Amino acid sequence: MAIDKKFIDQFIYVTNKAALESSYMVGKKDKIAADKAAVDSMRSELNKINFKGEIVIGEGELDEAPMLYIGESLGNSKAPEFDIAVDPLEGTNFAANNLPGALSVIAIAEKDNLFKAPETYMEKISCRVNEKNVIDLDFTVKQNISNLSDYLNKNPENLTACILDRPRHKIIIEELNKLKVNLKLITDGDISGALLVTDEKYKVDIFLGIGGGPEGVLAAAALDAFNCKFQGRFLFKSDEDKARASKMGIKDLTKKYELNEIVRGDSIFCATGITSGDLVSGIEIKGNDFISETLVTHKSSGFKKVIKLKQNL
Ligand code: FBP
Repeated sequence: MAIDKKFIDQFIYVTNKAALESSYMVGKKDKIAADKAAVDSMRSELNKINFKGEIVIGEGELDEAPMLYIGESLGNSKAPEFDIAVDPLEGTNFAANNLPGALSVIAIAEKDNLFKAPETYMEKISCRVNEKNVIDLDFTVKQNISNLSDYLNKNPENLTACILDRPRHKIIIEELNKLKVNLKLITDGDISGALLVTDEKYKVDIFLGIGGGPEGVLAAAALDAFNCKFQGRFLFKSDEDKARASKMGIKDLTKKYELNEIVRGDSIFCATGITSGDLVSGIEIKGNDFISETLVTHKSSGFKKVIKLKQNL
């Protein structure tokens, strides 16, 4: 079944409001306060919507971070039932330091259609080409670049790879340099990084590397609507992580997941800019109004657009 279109506006409003509340904390060097502003707003706005939702990807679990935690119920009616993934403030460093790219993000799917996972790291790969065996998490960097280069009929020198600038990516970055692939190194914000493959205007051909698992699931929801390729493999390092994952029903802890094993069926994705970035502009306050930009996708209707809104404060 499809998710009714009427929910699109309601969820845009949720990330708009969370982005606005968090925007008041931009540049104040306080990541926790900026995050809390977005979390509190998101919870209270979600509770006004007529649906029954469960957070399956959130800000940790009840015992470790009681803010939009995995398993939390939201909404003010019994139906329809949705799974919710949230990242109320994606890019806490960006918001705290007034840097480009802070977003407020949500994804909704019908019940039992979004992957339920503890907060952990994920190895990810995305690209525009949604064909088997062009790019794959199990291929070497060299193989992925060579296949993509053949498929797109572009020399590696004309390809751009987006990756988080982290010491853990040293070998991948060295390999990409050796292949003469252009790099877009991002300091944070890999939901946006993964989504830069959705449109040629962003000039990114492949996104890869290890980042947050929740960010991977959220990006997958939007990439699905754009019919892009995404694969992810959760990385459970500590025994505690492994035990949590097993408790949530994950049997094979090393499995490579295809996009449609992470998000199934219909979905809505909304990402509103807090500070301006590659995908959307940040919150702008003008007199008694605020202007927001939200990247919105709705899988079943094929809706995917940046929506600019002017609303009363
Ligand atoms: P926060 O908003 O929670 O700070 O996450 C920002 C982020 O850059 C994510 O986009 C990314 O998935 C993750 O952190 C990477 O984690 P790490 O900083 O530990 O490499």
